Amino acid sequence: MKNKRKFSFIPTFWFLLIFSTTSFAGTEASDASYGSVLKVVVAITAFLIAFVLWLVLVYSENNDAKGEKVITPFSKFIHAMTQSVSLQEEDDIMLDHDFDGIRELDNKIPPWWTALFYGGIIFAVIYMIDYHVIGDGNVQQSEYQQEVQAAAVRLEMLTKSGAMLTEETVTLLTDIASLTAGKTSFDKNCAACHGFGGEGLVGPNFTDEYWIHGGSIKNIYHTIAEGVPAKGMISWKSQLSPNQIQEVGSYILTLKGTNPPNQKAAEGEKWVESIDGV
Ligand code: HEC
Repeated sequence: MKNKRKFSFIPTFWFLLIFSTTSFAGTEASDASYGSVLKVVVAITAFLIAFVLWLVLVYSENNDAKGEKVITPFSKFIHAMTQSVSLQEEDDIMLDHDFDGIRELDNKIPPWWTALFYGGIIFAVIYMIDYHVIGDGNVQQSEYQQEVQAAAVRLEMLTKSGAMLTEETVTLLTDIASLTAGKTSFDKNCAACHGFGGEGLVGPNFTDEYWIHGGSIKNIYHTIAEGVPAKGMISWKSQLSPNQIQEVGSYILTLKGTNPPNQKAAEGEKWVESIDGV
């Protein structure tokens, strides 16, 4: 009875520990680190439960109706693993020597211990070859490199999706696909005020060298995204994605010098591109 109480304490302890990790995982630990903490806790719990069951099985006496000891497959297995000698047979393995009344049994090294010992050596050899000779194992350095690579892939994806695109990072696009997309959204959204050839109507002429708000791709991105509401140029950032603004801005810049008919008079200042393109 006394033993039982002691055993039930251990699973309870781990149960509480699992719950406590759940509560702090919600606040700061990421899902990934929570997952690994949970795995370790589950593994230790499973090990402890197995250990407790093992203790219960080993120490519980199994007697049949006649009071004779029953040999279960499990107790056979345990005997094979421990090679222990019963109290009655201890005399057979008693060594001759005697030190101040202390005598020694010639017990065999338990097979479970030997198995662990040789298993450890085999594991060490495999580990060394995998991590240090072939270099295939996930040592810290390669783990770091894998993470950097994964981050680079993510960055590329974000860049492609336009999530990283701002007026600070925007660049001039020159590929046909982007410019065609830019023309499509220009004809649809902008031509009504700026003319289909960019010659200018309500809005200014894009084909001359004069710009009111600056003629770099960064300036133009800003004007399109934020608009000039007071002057009748609306902000487009809620209707066009960053990529679309970059496309239409790049398209506008291809109109320079195309000299369409019915051009609106130049407005603003003559734009001279500075060396850094701002
Ligand atoms: C309702 C009319 C209207 C529409 C539609 C319109 N714009 Fe404008 N846009 C203007 C006006 C007016 C200005 C001049 C603002 C000023 O004087 O500050 C302007 C200015 C600009 C400028 C700055 C020009 C400069 O000289 O600095 C850019 C770039 C521009 N628009 C791009 C676009 C793009 C791209 C679209 C379509 C997505 C668009 N606009 C749609 C009216 C319009």
